[in-house]
Amino acid sequence: MNLEIISNKLKNMLPERRFKHSENVAKCAVKLSEIYGCDKEKSYIAGIIHDCAKYLEAKEVDFYVEKYSIELDELEKNNLALSHSVIGSYIVRNEFNIDDEEIINSVKYHTTGKANMNLIEKIIYIADLIEEDRNFPGVENLRQLTYNGKLDEALLESFDNTIKFVIDNKQLIHPRTVEARNYLMKQNN
Ligand SMILES: [Fe+2]
Ligand SMILES: [Fe+2]
Repeated sequence: MNLEIISNKLKNMLPERRFKHSENVAKCAVKLSEIYGCDKEKSYIAGIIHDCAKYLEAKEVDFYVEKYSIELDELEKNNLALSHSVIGSYIVRNEFNIDDEEIINSVKYHTTGKANMNLIEKIIYIADLIEEDRNFPGVENLRQLTYNGKLDEALLESFDNTIKFVIDNKQLIHPRTVEARNYLMKQNN
């Protein structure tokens, strides 16, 4: 499937501003690939497609979960904010016919992160947060770290931010985010 077909398909799945976000993530992922030495084309595709499942209706979620035997954990069930990355990874493989495991896994783990992420997974995770239209307290610091060769520090900072935010809002923490954070902490010590 070529890029134009992917983009057109995505435009039918996403509201305009989310498509713009996806293009921004793709562009940012390409810049980061230049800095860190990752495959630019793969990064672009992973970036543009990462939120493909973000706007599924409940019945579409049920349809895909059934069709592809997707196993969602307790936190992901009935929570598209978390599950769109996992469900999206199946849509990338089966509906976009993309069989590149790196692209698929970058989509799958872009919301929670995970322990021992590879380069493209890290790039998509952070590009999602720092793309040019993102604006939240601390985003400039994440950009500084990311664009100055400190990708792991940026990731650690963002996992910490997520965990603090979830605690402050009395929500459940996804264990993959804790594992991602602990993995980087141990690696850096
Ligand atoms: Fe997302
Ligand atoms: Fe996103």
